[in-house]
Amino acid sequence: MRRTRERSPSRIIMSSDPQQPIQGMSDMSAPEVERWQSLEYSARDVMRRYGLREIRTPMMEYESVFLHSLGATSDVVQKEMYVMEDRAGRRLALRPEGTAGVMRYLAGCGPEADQARLYYMGPMFRCERPQAGRKRQFHQVGVEIMGPPRAAADAECMLLQMQLLREWGIEDGRLLVNTRGQADKREDLNEALRSALAPHRDILCGDCARRFDVNVMRVLDCKQDACRNVVEALPDLASLMDDDARRYFESVCEMLDAAGAAYDVAPKMVRGLDYYEHTVWEITHPALGAQDALAGGGRYVVEMGGRTLHGVGFAVGMERVMMVLSALDIGANQESPREDIRLVSLGDEALRENFALCERLRRNGRGVGMDLNGRSMKAQMREANKSGARWVVICGESELQQGKRQLKNMRDGTQRTVAASELEDILMDQGDL
Ligand code: HAM
Repeated sequence: MRRTRERSPSRIIMSSDPQQPIQGMSDMSAPEVERWQSLEYSARDVMRRYGLREIRTPMMEYESVFLHSLGATSDVVQKEMYVMEDRAGRRLALRPEGTAGVMRYLAGCGPEADQARLYYMGPMFRCERPQAGRKRQFHQVGVEIMGPPRAAADAECMLLQMQLLREWGIEDGRLLVNTRGQADKREDLNEALRSALAPHRDILCGDCARRFDVNVMRVLDCKQDACRNVVEALPDLASLMDDDARRYFESVCEMLDAAGAAYDVAPKMVRGLDYYEHTVWEITHPALGAQDALAGGGRYVVEMGGRTLHGVGFAVGMERVMMVLSALDIGANQESPREDIRLVSLGDEALRENFALCERLRRNGRGVGMDLNGRSMKAQMREANKSGARWVVICGESELQQGKRQLKNMRDGTQRTVAASELEDILMDQGDL
């Protein structure tokens, strides 16, 4: 008889440690996740007061959604997007930012889209080299306020952003503002920039030599020393624009002044996404180090689905907010949610009784905990102490026989015997749990 050779089970080859998340992406657990929740909670309240409603768009879109809005030559699209094909060969991308998806959504809405006031919160994905403050999955709270270019709308959006940070406890962010002029004058501005840069073209880095032709504004963002020196010597961007663009920007600054907002004009700042026109801004914070942008925004115009969408918006990077809050020592000692009541049971019948009581109390709004594993009295009392519960109910054999329970006040250590039939009312009557 021929023996078939046993096949070794097929081996899955893992490219890295399967217990680690992907580099640049993080798990988030308590107590950190509770700090995030409280930030999200106060963000929702700020948004409500400024008349914004939430929008949730998918984390994945057709790649074209981003190509058409962020610009095919932007760094985010060229170098940082996670792009993949689905089984039908369609090109999809994980969203690197939130504006494009919101525009895709609004392009399919009726005329009300032109006045939409929306906010979003959620993860974004950029395949950058991870470092402090730079993640591959990070989170933004973002805002998009639709409407034609109006200085007041731009200023309102910046004020909303500053207020949001203030309510989180960040007062000392630095608001940097500039203008990119009108979208339909972009080619004129590019030409003016090329003329100003032409004498220095040989000194520019390899990337910028290419950017000179395909997207000259990107040169202003370059971090290489040689390019930065060249950019430093360039005239201010606004001086290369027409009077209308300059007047618009002056009105934005006047609105900010009127509202008492502190800001600095950053005359060479352009920001990395192609959809911007007129006002652009960033908020930096000294606690952030090299990646010092806490938030960024601007006015934009996007062509999508045969529609021209005008708006102004911003996004705050939540990981960076958390870094600043830690540096400022804000929120670290936030109390984690604690139990109000702990039920201690000795024996199966006591566990059944407590189990039913636990459910009734929880349904009525109390935070209740109990051991389901039949652990010793000592172990259960240890847990009760750790839980921070104000009241502990003890039910053992003798309590069951007498129809009584022991009720311990953990704040002052006193203990009394109460009738089982009255226990629930007593616990529900405690207003100060
Ligand atoms: P952005 O400047 O690309 O703008 O990103 C906004 C913020 O997201 C940054 O200031 C930073 O705090 C955070 N951020 C960006 N990349 C990373 C990363 N790799 N790791 C951690 N945080 C990061 C936008 O995304 C625009 N959509 C903002 C906008 C909305 N403009 C108009 N409407």
